[in-house]
Amino acid sequence: MAFNILISDPLSEEGIYPLRQAEGMNIVIETDWSPEELANRINDFDALLVRSQTQVTSDIIAKATKLKIIGRAGVGVDNIDLNAATEQGIIVVNAPDGNTNSAAEHTMAMLMSLARKIPQAFHALKNNKWDRKTYVGVELKNKTLGVIGLGRIGAEVAARAQGQRMNVIAYDPFLTAEKALKMGIDFGSVEDVLRKADFITVHTPLMKETKHLINAEAFKIMKDGVQIINCARGGIIDEEALYDAIVSKKVAGAALDVFEQEPAVNHKLLTLPEVIATPHLGASTIEAQESVAVDVSQDVVNFLNGGLVRNP
Ligand code: NAD
Ligand code: MLT
Repeated sequence: MAFNILISDPLSEEGIYPLRQAEGMNIVIETDWSPEELANRINDFDALLVRSQTQVTSDIIAKATKLKIIGRAGVGVDNIDLNAATEQGIIVVNAPDGNTNSAAEHTMAMLMSLARKIPQAFHALKNNKWDRKTYVGVELKNKTLGVIGLGRIGAEVAARAQGQRMNVIAYDPFLTAEKALKMGIDFGSVEDVLRKADFITVHTPLMKETKHLINAEAFKIMKDGVQIINCARGGIIDEEALYDAIVSKKVAGAALDVFEQEPAVNHKLLTLPEVIATPHLGASTIEAQESVAVDVSQDVVNFLNGGLVRNP
C-alpha cells in the first residue's frame, strides 16, 4: 500500500529517515504553501508532519478527507485544532521528549543573558560603543528562580538553576511536597512563586487555564525589579501587561523566545532596551530537531502500517 506524506514545516533530513526507508511512503516537502494552498491540496495526503509554523485549523482539517494522522515534531500542539481532528477521526501525535534538553539549555542561556545584559552590551559594542557603566548586571547566586510549570523542561531548568546556586520555588498543579523535597526545591501557590521570585520562568502548555496567567494582577504581586523569562508559549504572558510593567520599572527585564503572534516583527516589546529576545529558537538545535523528527516519523510509519503510536 502507498501513502502520501506532506511535510509542511522544515524538518531535519536525518530525522525523517524512518519515513524515507519505509516502503510505500511518497514524501512531499512543501514548506512555503500559504494556508489557502494547504487547504486546497491537503485532500491528497494520508499524513501531515508539522513543526509550530503550520496552523492546522478546522478549515484545513475539514478539507483533509484522506488524512489519517498529524505528526507534530515538537511538544506544543496548540497550532493544531485537536477537536476538529478528533471529530474527523484523525490521530495527532507529538514528540514530547526530544527537545526537552535543548529548550532547558536555551532557557538558561536567556536567564544568564538577561542577568548580565549580554545581548544589549554586544549590540552596543558592535556599534563601536565601549560602555561599561550601562551594562552592570546582577548575580544569579542566592537569587530565587520561580518556575511555573514543573514538567519536563521546567524540572530540567530547576536542576540547572540549582547548579548556579539559585534557590528554586515552583508551582505546578501536579507538584507534591514529596517530589519538591526530592528535588531540593520549595513549592507553593502561583501567588507564592510570584511574590518570592527574583526571576520567573514559565514552562506550561498554552491552554485556556494558562492564557495570560502572567497578567497585570500577577505583576502587581511580584517583587520590584523582577525579571521574566518565557521560552514556553506566547500568550502565557499578557504582552500588553508586560510592556506596561517594564515601562513602569516594576519589571527590570524580560527574555522572550515566544510571542502571541509569530513571526513577531515590529513588536512593541522589542523597542524596549530591557527586553532581549530570540525568534522561537528553544528547540532549534541539530540534536533536538533530529530527535523530534525521528520520533514523529517513526510514529507515522507505525500507524500507517497498522501499528501502535507512542505519543498520541
Ligand atoms: P510538559 O507537559 O512536560 O510540562 C508542562 C507542565 O505544566 C506540566 O507539569 C503541567 O502539570 C504544568 N501545568 C499545566 N497547567 C499548569 C498551570 N495552570 N500552572 C502551572 N503549571 C501547569 O511540557 P514541556 O515539554 O516541559 O514543555 C513546556 C512548554 O514549553 C510547552 O508550552 C511547550 O510547547 C514549550 N516548548 C517550547 C519550546 C521552544 O522552542 N521555545 C521548545 C519545547 C517546548
Ligand atoms: C515545541 O513546542 O516543541 C516548540 O515550540 C519547538 C518547536 O517546534 O519549534
